[in-house]
Amino acid sequence: MKQAGDFKRTLVTTALPYANGPVHIGHLAGVYVPADIYVRYLRLKKEDVLLIGGSDEHGVPITLKAKNEGVTPQDVVDKFHGIIKDSFENFGISFDVYSRTTSKTHYETASEFFKTLYDKGEFIEKESEQYYDEEARQFLADRYITGTCPHCKSEGAYGDQCESCGTSLNATDLIDPRSVVSGSKPVIKTTKHWYLPLDKHEPFLKEWILDGHKEWKSNVYGQCKSWIDLGLQPRAVSRDLDWGVPVPVEGADGKVLYVWFDAPIGYISATKELTPEWEKYWKSEDSRMLHFIGKDNIVFHCIVFPSMLKAEGSYILPENVPANEFLNLEGDKISTSRNWAVWLHEYLVDFKDKQDVLRYTLTANAPETKDNDFTWKDFQARNNNELVAVLGNFVNRALVLTQKYYDGEVPALGELNEVDQQTLAEIANLKAEVEKSLDNYRFREALKFAMDLARLGNKYLADEEPWKVVKTDPERVKTVMNICLQITANLTVVLEPFLPFSMEKLRGFVNLEKLEWSELGRTDLLQAGHKTNKPDLLFEKIEDKTIEAQVQKLLDTKKANELAEATAKPAKENCSFDDFMKMDIRTGTIVEAEKVAKTKKLMKLLVDTGIDQRTVVSGIAEYYSPEEIIGKQVSILVNLEPRKLRGIESQGMILMAEDADGTLKFVSPEAEVKNGSEVK
Ligand code: MF3
Ligand code: ZN
Repeated sequence: MKQAGDFKRTLVTTALPYANGPVHIGHLAGVYVPADIYVRYLRLKKEDVLLIGGSDEHGVPITLKAKNEGVTPQDVVDKFHGIIKDSFENFGISFDVYSRTTSKTHYETASEFFKTLYDKGEFIEKESEQYYDEEARQFLADRYITGTCPHCKSEGAYGDQCESCGTSLNATDLIDPRSVVSGSKPVIKTTKHWYLPLDKHEPFLKEWILDGHKEWKSNVYGQCKSWIDLGLQPRAVSRDLDWGVPVPVEGADGKVLYVWFDAPIGYISATKELTPEWEKYWKSEDSRMLHFIGKDNIVFHCIVFPSMLKAEGSYILPENVPANEFLNLEGDKISTSRNWAVWLHEYLVDFKDKQDVLRYTLTANAPETKDNDFTWKDFQARNNNELVAVLGNFVNRALVLTQKYYDGEVPALGELNEVDQQTLAEIANLKAEVEKSLDNYRFREALKFAMDLARLGNKYLADEEPWKVVKTDPERVKTVMNICLQITANLTVVLEPFLPFSMEKLRGFVNLEKLEWSELGRTDLLQAGHKTNKPDLLFEKIEDKTIEAQVQKLLDTKKANELAEATAKPAKENCSFDDFMKMDIRTGTIVEAEKVAKTKKLMKLLVDTGIDQRTVVSGIAEYYSPEEIIGKQVSILVNLEPRKLRGIESQGMILMAEDADGTLKFVSPEAEVKNGSEVK
């Protein structure tokens, strides 16, 4: 296996986010912050490295969004490409190029790539049956068909998945399918597509990944292994759709490249747009390519794209794919459609100039080996207890005391005692530790080691107490402060990949240029006499009320989602007026109530219906206690056939309204009426 040092340059790609919505903390935590840390680290090491990104602007969801909003797909992607690009820029994700898959270069590159494989006979052509909308005269992607779910019978299921019960479906399984485009009933028609025969590449993939890349993260290696073990199938690389890169062969009218075929080629197109020397990065054996992605992208980057590159023949394959797991938000899966996210463009408004706080939190709690949870409480704690109390506090004390004692000038180092020597040795050791973590894509561990330097400084200061010693032994204080300032200078290097904004500020306070990684660990970064500046605070405390406002925002979203879902339930089939009039609903008052033993939900009620007093068993025990409902006036269906529940005969039914989350509420007259009044 090749080592990092065997390569002359590194190409780092980051998954191209879909331009059908803004980007959120999940994107940042899973892909862009780790990639940025890694690239900043290599740049500090003076390595030749490129960070490649861009927006993924094809695919069915974008066309659906456009349709829903009455605009063109191009309008949709123009809007979100802008928002996404700005968000990344504002968070300091230091792309060398951030392109998009609707660029001219990309259309040419993707077309050519397809053509090369086509000419080499690397595809198979197959006919298949697919739904077709005769009114709109187009084939329908799975997402373009809705109908009733064959499993849970809920309406509005999509051709690929029912969102009510989560089952994945085949479009042809749907009961009463409808085209989303015209609303008409689709027909089955034959269509032709091109397939990449992954089965043919299986032996190669086995050898390359399973034997050749055992060092990949276990979540990545494991996913690859289970795909390969299951047996790979040919995958369609074209679609019947009018949004995308046209399939560049004759007789392919109305067909475009499948979004997952063209998107990774976007990495190549973007590199081409960046530099005429792009081939050096993509086509020479001494270049190393790394894909930073989330776990849902593993199969495309480890199996499909490498098979494409291999089939093409002139490209290198990824050396590593350090994919991350998912970040959840306050216990729930982040979801663009349900607005369950912390959007980066909103964070930037609510937490102006606090990009590093989020970068820090997302790295310290990165979903590297398992799914993780982002909570606002943790965000506040990381800021207040770590950034403010450890890092900010240390550098501030070091710099303020230097101002106070020496008018900002770095004092000379005097004689060293054992503690000093040990402290200096720890500074020198740090480099190797952090490097080892970074080289293995363990960013949270690397950050912890880097922060240990600030912890070391804090402890050293607290133990040495220069503010006391200054009165008795001012010479000694010079040594202590010199060491504190060397630690501060080292912090500007080791934390630069993680906290670029704050380290730029800190370099300003210390009056220091950006140093190279190779200087990390040196204890003479600042010469005696070097003039430091008056410091400002590096981080500030985040108050409870700020955090509460964010939590409230999420609670509001939850409420809105529940309501939206509730109103979404369609009306039942019509019933006749006569049918309705058969129901005899009256007002009544609950006179007795007790829980039915050994059940969670059932309550036994005695109700005064005006006609009589009768027993009714009702499923409300999870929502009401017996005490609170005695005396309550309710609506009751009095001519429902009696039936036995848990051995108790129930004579009627209490009317309840069911809220979106399943909570039950009585349907009661708005003001008290006589018991036995008819409800109609
Ligand atoms: N747009 C895809 C997603 O968000 C990622 C595409 S990565 C690329 O899941 F390789 F295709 F570019
Ligand atoms: Zn279902």
